[in-house]
Amino acid sequence: MALPRTVAIDGPAGAGKSSICRVVARDLGYLFVDTGAFYRAVTLAVIRAGLLDADDAAIIRLTSQLNLDIVPQHDQYAVLLNGEDVTQAIQQSGVDANVSRISAISGVRAVLNEKYRQLAARGPVIMAGRDIGTVVLPQADLKIYLDASPEARAERRYRQRIAGGQQANYDEILSSLRSRDASDSQREVDPLRRPSDATYVHTDDLDIESAIRQVKQIILNWQPAH
Ligand code: DC
Repeated sequence: MALPRTVAIDGPAGAGKSSICRVVARDLGYLFVDTGAFYRAVTLAVIRAGLLDADDAAIIRLTSQLNLDIVPQHDQYAVLLNGEDVTQAIQQSGVDANVSRISAISGVRAVLNEKYRQLAARGPVIMAGRDIGTVVLPQADLKIYLDASPEARAERRYRQRIAGGQQANYDEILSSLRSRDASDSQREVDPLRRPSDATYVHTDDLDIESAIRQVKQIILNWQPAH
């Protein structure tokens, strides 16, 4: 049975892309690439370099100098920024608050899109983000759009943070998600869009296991085009 070599997953922040795809990728033998991770790692690097108020050119220059990688690690994956494991650090609220602005810079996107295409060329990959099926891998074998309401997504983020021992405030998370939704879908470069050829999955009423099962089924039912 042939499986798709490239699976593109798009959808808004908190729709469950990473929690679902991490497990699906592990079970079906894919590398999972969460493309928000590099946008977050670049944002962290910008914060650390004190460049939040710098012009776009300086931010693009910094981005092109960064060594970014995603490597599998104990059932999960680690995000490396110049060799440092920043998997936890990129989930901080300071990164959340600034990642939309950084990811709206087209020069930053050009650098990261190239890195992502190289990662996809390494082997069977499930790549998740906002513009994977539309821009990064428009020729992906299979495209899935994962959706959920803002309230359901905020609730999940809240629980994730609490479970991870972090402080969390539901209302703040909801309002930050809403403003991120607005900037992710209204920005001029590569806005969040549902690819016309994507299979649509709405996860509000699905628990994580059912969502995983559904996405796996879509991948397993895939038929190569003749
Ligand atoms: O999925 P996430 O919350 O980790 O993504 C963080 C931010 O990165 C999100 O607000 C928009 C941006 N992003 C993007 O612009 N393009 C992608 N392919 C993935 C993420």
